[in-house]
Amino acid sequence: MEKIWWKEAVGYQIYPRSFMDSNGDGVGDLNGIREKLPYLKELGVDFIWINPVYESPNVDNGYDISHYQEILAEFGTMADFDQLLVEAHQLGIKVIMDLVINHTSDQHEWFTEAKKSKENPYRDYYIWRDGTDGKPPSDWQAIFGGSVWTYEETTDQYYFHAFAKEQPDLNWENHQLKQDVFAMISWWLDKGIDGFRIDAISHIKKDAFHLPADLENIAARYQNITGIGDYLKELKQVFDSYDIMTVGEASGVTAEEAEDWAGHDGYFDMIFEFEHIGLWKKQQDKQFDIRSFKQALSRWQYALDGKGWNALYMENHDVPRSVSVFGCDGEYREISAKALAMMYFFLQGTPFIYQGQELGMTNMKFSSIDQIDALDSKHIYQELLNQGKSEKEALTVISQTTRDNARTPMQWDASTYGGFSESEPWLVVNPNTQQINAAEQLEQPDSVLHFYQQLIRLRKESQALVYGHFEELLSEDEQLYVYLRSAEEEQILVLVNLSSESADYQLPKAIKQLDKEWQLLLSNLPKAASQLEMTGTLAPFEARAYRFKGK
Ligand code: GLC
Ligand code: CA
Repeated sequence: MEKIWWKEAVGYQIYPRSFMDSNGDGVGDLNGIREKLPYLKELGVDFIWINPVYESPNVDNGYDISHYQEILAEFGTMADFDQLLVEAHQLGIKVIMDLVINHTSDQHEWFTEAKKSKENPYRDYYIWRDGTDGKPPSDWQAIFGGSVWTYEETTDQYYFHAFAKEQPDLNWENHQLKQDVFAMISWWLDKGIDGFRIDAISHIKKDAFHLPADLENIAARYQNITGIGDYLKELKQVFDSYDIMTVGEASGVTAEEAEDWAGHDGYFDMIFEFEHIGLWKKQQDKQFDIRSFKQALSRWQYALDGKGWNALYMENHDVPRSVSVFGCDGEYREISAKALAMMYFFLQGTPFIYQGQELGMTNMKFSSIDQIDALDSKHIYQELLNQGKSEKEALTVISQTTRDNARTPMQWDASTYGGFSESEPWLVVNPNTQQINAAEQLEQPDSVLHFYQQLIRLRKESQALVYGHFEELLSEDEQLYVYLRSAEEEQILVLVNLSSESADYQLPKAIKQLDKEWQLLLSNLPKAASQLEMTGTLAPFEARAYRFKGK
């Protein structure tokens, strides 16, 4: 297999607003990231992906960009950015930026121009339609609630938006728009950044507007629509002249299409799929369904094994904390955080760690809707009240599902504002920063943080973990996720109990017949059998990896 830097790399996602505030205004910033580069270096990551830091009115926290080539003042200046890039590179850390090109802010000059008249040169940069009988052109619903159409009086037409009404979608059918977008991309790449995470990219093509809404999946009419590949190939041409990595956010893309999107010659180097995580959920599932979770992950592993590359993740800025959802944020917090970590880290692909995940940070128990910032959550809260739910019931749902769970400030230490800021942060700090924080975990050899550090180190040293094939074992098991990673002279067997009950296992004979000595590589308990046993029991959330060297 061809060796490529981003295949051997581990990434770390930074949500700048919540990572580190360097000037005491309660909002994280670029200099805050710069201050914490040594922490990231020690953790061992190879690149950071920074969520949008561009000029924005912040209706959707930076995902509504009003100027692509300016830094939002709250985050710092372009000089601060350049300095961050230099210092990161000095430490051997690459920098990936967020690229939001499905939509802009309604404050972007293209849109303020486009609104003015039907003849304006920027008019066709966006998607405009006449209404029918005083109603929107179609009944499609937006991802953040309400219609995808918003009426604009001046020209008596509606414009299209997949997300909030302040985020008008760009018209990818317009040639000039694409040229402007591509020029902007090259401008950033010429600066020397190392790649992009491409936001909401599966939405850039829409279906025929006369079609009725799909009630099962509200985004179905404007998500991964046939023909989108033509746009994506043009985009790929821009990327191809640079040695960078690209990771597309690809909701609605299935494993059957994996190769088109993330194959050796796919639109992107890798994509974030959503099958194992479930995005924009409005209700928390009663119980975590281990079988379908395993199936989703394995489906993507097989789909790209030898054919492309996966992006591996358990958290990001849009979903609740993984220990709270898939693990346990009570008694088993530490061990389940480690189990989930090993489970996804040793799959084939490039692992991404979301800030705080390496500490086992948990969901927040929000005590009032006033503590919530995310616009989609406020929308859903209102919908729940309209459906007759009490404030308390609605808040319980929001508390479990809101993406603000991932956005509470990073927990650096046990102080009032978690060491994130000197003054009250823009979003509440989780009070459990007193128990869960980086300062303390740096001191403890068996902390979740040190476990991540070990995972990163082991992955770096192992051919099998980076380039090896994937094979799932015991796929019918309802508690355990068991898989093999095999390279020419090394095999790794990973056994993870994803449940809070102990689990017996019996390995298939095929393993036994190999008759090799498997040595313990890593475990999340102080004691585990140092050699692999063909039958045995794993404690709740126990995780072990065994290795043998040789053919
Ligand atoms: C992506 C981002 C999310 C944002 C949305 C609209 O899904 O991850 O945070 O709200 O796109 O840009
Ligand atoms: Ca600040």
